[in-house]
Amino acid sequence: MEKVIIAITGASGIVYGIKLVEELLKRFKVYLVLTDKAEMVAKYEGVYEKLNELKNNVKTYKEHDIDSSIASSSFNHDAMVISPCSMKTLAGIASGYSENLVLRVAENTLKLKKPLILVIRETPLNTIHILNMLKVSIAGGIILPASPAFYHKPKSVDDMVSFIVGKVLDILGVQHNLYKKWETY
Ligand SMILES: Cc1cc2nc3c(=O)[nH]c(=O)nc-3n(C[C@H](O)[C@H](O)[C@H](O)COP(=O)(O)O)c2cc1C
Repeated sequence: MEKVIIAITGASGIVYGIKLVEELLKRFKVYLVLTDKAEMVAKYEGVYEKLNELKNNVKTYKEHDIDSSIASSSFNHDAMVISPCSMKTLAGIASGYSENLVLRVAENTLKLKKPLILVIRETPLNTIHILNMLKVSIAGGIILPASPAFYHKPKSVDDMVSFIVGKVLDILGVQHNLYKKWETY
């Protein structure tokens, strides 16, 4: 794997996207897409400054940059992760309504049968959300709910975030020490 596209959308848990980018930057070329609402939610969650700092280290696009190189399937990225992924963005992917850069890249990723991971965040879920997840899953996407576990005894919010980011890295085949793997015997 060489080129990974990460999108951060306006669901709660912007920190899931920030930590994922920090981890992937250690190993790969990372391209970041931010929706307008991601920046808004980042302010509410107190991580706006951190998100801005990240922009200094990674090539960053806005959702409106639909004419950018990454909007084309010829960009040939290896994987895409949307973290966190709002129900609106999920719906756009499920219905093929590619009206922004996040949706366009997701569409291309499915088209090319490359890994597309959606770290969805919403609770409770309505039937439309569940059906949209089913559609994306049938199309080849991976639904990874942002639902941290407790059996590894997290001591901080960062431990809980690391668990979810670690699960994403597991799927991408990236070695990490973000959470302790389950071992009994
Ligand atoms: C503080 C805040 C938290 C939100 N959390 C969620 C959430 O967890 N999940 C979700 O689907 N939408 C959430 N929303 C609503 C989305 O931001 C909204 O649907 C938006 O249109 C998503 O756009 P985007 O997917 O283009 O970023 C939240 C909005 C705000 C202001």
